[in-house]
Amino acid sequence: MKFVIVYGTTEGQTRRIARFCADRLADAGHAVELLPAAEAGDLELSRFDGAVLAGSLHIGAFQKELAAFATARAAALRAMPTLFLAVSLAAAGQDAGDWAGLRACVERFSAASGWVPGQVAHVAGAFRFTQYDFFRTWAMRWIASEKGVAVTAGADTEFTDWAALGALLDTWAAGVTPRRG
Ligand SMILES: Cc1cc2nc3c(=O)[nH]c(=O)nc-3n(C[C@H](O)[C@H](O)[C@H](O)COP(=O)(O)O)c2cc1C
Repeated sequence: MKFVIVYGTTEGQTRRIARFCADRLADAGHAVELLPAAEAGDLELSRFDGAVLAGSLHIGAFQKELAAFATARAAALRAMPTLFLAVSLAAAGQDAGDWAGLRACVERFSAASGWVPGQVAHVAGAFRFTQYDFFRTWAMRWIASEKGVAVTAGADTEFTDWAALGALLDTWAAGVTPRRG
């Protein structure tokens, strides 16, 4: 089958996640196209049997480029099997309030874009202290300390569960049927 993966990323973790998914699908024998949302403007979605969209949360919102893509292609996306990988740090924890917040962020994204994902998966991202400027470093260290997470200054800490992500993707892809015609 043929899949497309469109992603938005700010510090690079969602790109890693999208690449992992592309490799996973390709290794299973599927054809895969992987591209950043900013370059997906002229993508012909009818060429694909299924689409994966991935984006990360920054102050409660996903990347503008991903929102623009989902909005412009909402009708085509609604008509095909889709998976939304919502990357965040809240997904690394078990806080019920954080999880309610994550669901609310996806609902806002969906309501604003008009795209209702066939399946939503919340994926834990990473602290990328190697990528942050002064203010982000300060803010993220504060968030880490609030959550009781030990981080090393200047180093990255990854929470993505690659095995779980692979298994989830396998299950989703197995449920996709090829387009006819
Ligand atoms: C400025 C900033 C704001 C963030 N806001 C949120 C947030 O509102 N909720 C959350 O769960 N994670 C938040 N995160 C964590 C990111 O979603 C996480 O680091 C993710 O791995 C980033 O993915 P990316 O590298 O693909 O951009 C934030 C991170 C930064 C740097």
